[in-house]
Amino acid sequence: MKIWQKILGSSTVLAGFICLMGISIFNLYQAEILAEKNQKETAQVLNITNNLEKFLKNQVLVLKDFVILDHNIQNMIEFQKIMSNFRIELDKLETLMGKDPEVLLVRRHHTFLTKLANGLDNNIVTLVKSQEDIKAINAYVKDISFHLSAISQDTLKEYNIANANVREIRRINTNFMLLAIIGIFLILLYQLIFILPVIRSLHKLQVGVAEIGAGDLNYHLDIQTNDEIEQLANNFNQMTSKLSDFYQCLESRVTERTTELFQLNQDLETEIADRRKTEIKLKKSQAQLTLKAQELEKTLQELQEAQTQLIQTEKMSSLGQLVAGVAHEINNPVNFIHGNIEPLKEYLQNFSTVINLYRTHYPQPVHQIENYIKYIDLEFILKDTNQVIASLEVGTKRIREIVLSLRNFSRLDEADMKEVNLHEGIDNTLLILQHRIKEKPQHSEIEIIKEYGDLPLIECYPGQLNQVFMNILNNAIDAMDSYTADNNLIETTSINKKIIIKTKMINNKFITIHIADNGAGIPAEIRNRIFDPFFTTKPVGKGTGLGLSISYQIVTATHRGSLQYITVPGKGTEFIIKLPIKQKN
Ligand SMILES: Nc1ncnc2c1ncn2[C@@H]1O[C@H](COP(=O)(O)OP(=O)(O)OP(=O)(O)O)[C@@H](O)[C@H]1O
Ligand SMILES: [Mg+2]
Repeated sequence: MKIWQKILGSSTVLAGFICLMGISIFNLYQAEILAEKNQKETAQVLNITNNLEKFLKNQVLVLKDFVILDHNIQNMIEFQKIMSNFRIELDKLETLMGKDPEVLLVRRHHTFLTKLANGLDNNIVTLVKSQEDIKAINAYVKDISFHLSAISQDTLKEYNIANANVREIRRINTNFMLLAIIGIFLILLYQLIFILPVIRSLHKLQVGVAEIGAGDLNYHLDIQTNDEIEQLANNFNQMTSKLSDFYQCLESRVTERTTELFQLNQDLETEIADRRKTEIKLKKSQAQLTLKAQELEKTLQELQEAQTQLIQTEKMSSLGQLVAGVAHEINNPVNFIHGNIEPLKEYLQNFSTVINLYRTHYPQPVHQIENYIKYIDLEFILKDTNQVIASLEVGTKRIREIVLSLRNFSRLDEADMKEVNLHEGIDNTLLILQHRIKEKPQHSEIEIIKEYGDLPLIECYPGQLNQVFMNILNNAIDAMDSYTADNNLIETTSINKKIIIKTKMINNKFITIHIADNGAGIPAEIRNRIFDPFFTTKPVGKGTGLGLSISYQIVTATHRGSLQYITVPGKGTEFIIKLPIKQKN
């Protein structure tokens, strides 16, 4: 038999039996409740009839006392009380028994008795009347007693029957329960007989699986239950024997492969060691290469700086020499002219005195002289000569000043560090740039606003700093020129080009020079490149792109200062040169 058949069969029998038992017990229980109710009710009826008989006897006694004795009103009141108790009990009896004819008769006779009692008065009556009343009372009481005893006897019978019923049902119930327990026990026994072998064989299977799991592939299961488990055990045994074969085969293969792997592993280890060596070598050469590249980069940078310096130094030294040469060449003839002005003035003064003397002593010269005096306007010449000499003096003085500025600017003779007045350097540079600042047909004059602070003498290389001022001022002028040109602005007085030069002392160690223009400003995209050597936005031939890079070197490297700028596109640019007052060694 299959396992499912065993379990389903026994479970169905058990379930059916339990249902049957349940229904029967329920019915028996209902019957017992009914019988008990019946028993209780008949007991109540018996009790009430007893009470009624008792009340009836008391009523008769009181009533007879009232009739025979002296019609005491107290007897009548007591009668009324007992009578009302009687009625209450009678009502209860009617509720329990319904419209039973005996009960109806009791009520009717009792009503007559009550009427009779109510008809008795307090007056003294005759003996005959009393005897008649007593007879009537006896007659009614007899009737009521008769019916009450009839009810009592019937009820007693019913009560005995109900008692017997209850006892019987209880007996049946007890037997039935016993039977049910025995039945359930038998069915459980049946299940145990069929299912226990199944459980046992399942346990054996579990042990078998555990053994196989632990590696015992020769384990053999012995199950003979003639069901699926036996089949499963056979399959299990077949599987274990196959597994055992497979395992042996696998083991030999694993041994083979392990040997191969071991060999491979050794090969790999040697290869890895070789590679590591190569890697270390590679890393070393890479580090060397990086070092070399860094060195090369540094050298290139140094070379670039040197080149820039060289170009600028060359440019500036040839410019300086040119300026110094020109200044020297002009200086000689100018001194020459300037030196001769004083004697010339004196000579002309003498000439004028002589002429005046002649004119005083010879008021009538010959006609020819008179005509010539008129022709040359001698009066005017005598008056104007002094002015011509004065303007010659002014002119030569100015030329001497310019020459001096040129010599100062070039400062060829001052290659060493010196303490100088920076304001002089700025003024000299401005003087040289006069031709660019002054009004010209292509641009209006640039206003130079000087806001010089109180600066001490600054320790520096004056020629190099003049170069810085020249570069920054040149850039400022370029920026303003290109701005007006780019924007097609007509040069009118409304466009007020100006350069503000401000100097101040920051503390007792540093000073700053601010050179601000109101040109186009520096566009954001080139801001981090303007100090690069050869970076220029100017057309070919106009800018070399070295101005700011050289200036940066001079200010920061040579003078240990700083060069910064603030720019607002469309508004202008301000360069700030910060310099130490003293250069430490
Ligand atoms: N004040 C300024 N306003 C606007 N742009 C400026 C100003 N100063 C410098 N620049 C910008 O910075 C660039 C680099 O200036 P730098 O002085 O180094 O070279 P350059 O003036 O072009 O050429 P060089 O000075 O050698 O003749 C300029 O081409 C210009 O674009
Ligand atoms: Mg420049």
